[in-house]
Amino acid sequence: MRNFLTLEDVTREEIFQIFKLAKRLKRKPWGNQLKDKIFALLFFKPSTRTRVSFEAGIKQLGGEAIYLDYATTQLARGESVEDAARTLERYVNCIIARVYEHKVLERMAKVANIPIINALSNLEHPCQILSDLFTIQEHFGKFDGLKLTYVGDGGNNIAHSLLLGCSKIGLNLTISCPKQYAPNPTILQKSLQHSLITGTKIDVLSDPHKAVKDSDIIYTDVWVSMGMEKEVKKRLETLQPYQVNESLVKHANPSFIFMHCLPYEGREVIPDIIYGPHSIVWQQAENRLHVGKALLVFLMKF
Ligand code: CP
Ligand code: NVA
Repeated sequence: MRNFLTLEDVTREEIFQIFKLAKRLKRKPWGNQLKDKIFALLFFKPSTRTRVSFEAGIKQLGGEAIYLDYATTQLARGESVEDAARTLERYVNCIIARVYEHKVLERMAKVANIPIINALSNLEHPCQILSDLFTIQEHFGKFDGLKLTYVGDGGNNIAHSLLLGCSKIGLNLTISCPKQYAPNPTILQKSLQHSLITGTKIDVLSDPHKAVKDSDIIYTDVWVSMGMEKEVKKRLETLQPYQVNESLVKHANPSFIFMHCLPYEGREVIPDIIYGPHSIVWQQAENRLHVGKALLVFLMKF
């Protein structure tokens, strides 16, 4: 039995195995690889891509998905996540959960004898970055020698999973963010350790113009992640210099691609770029389906 709470839960070799499987599933989407498997999708936060790509993908592979909006379960009335997990494991083969505190996933994983998958926590979004790395490989056919610059909130789930994923796979990464929104030190430390093994360059820079220089990939995310709504005013002011706009992207490699996990908040990148020719955000969103399916098939083997 294997969990997927973080990109730390898979090796570099396993990531490439999942990509191989995703490529096959993209060519042949329907099958019975998940026949007789039932997945509970327990979501404490909203979702479009993660929920629908998992639900559609599970159906395409012959499995069943049960969506559980936290607010309609006994969790909303105070049942513990441990008891919810102990109960769900009697009914389903896997729990795919989207939570606020990452610890909630760890608490479920501690008591459940079925895999727990992180469908986003405040700390990490490993399913997204696994899929994004697949998209990058699909676009460039390699990771070696490329530079990805992530601009914006350096302390959120996307930045953290990028740090772990890029350092593990061998993709040079620069995070450009204000000091107030810097990466979690433990995650940064782990990624620096991986980078020593893979020979990857990991940087954190406050100047976005310097950071974007010669980038092949520019990635951004919302400035106000789910759960951070109280900080809206402060975040919008502090993060404004990190907007992806014409004056920023002119420092990048002329054939750069633009990525964003979506949803688009309307501030972090100008419409001309997210809807323009450099953007691959729809291909990126589509691959959530293929890579999500590959991940489930991979985890169900253990
Ligand atoms: N990128 C992503 O996880 O999107 P959703 O919040 O719509 O699932
Ligand atoms: N950082 C964003 C990602 C959304 C998919 C959030 O947590 O809201």
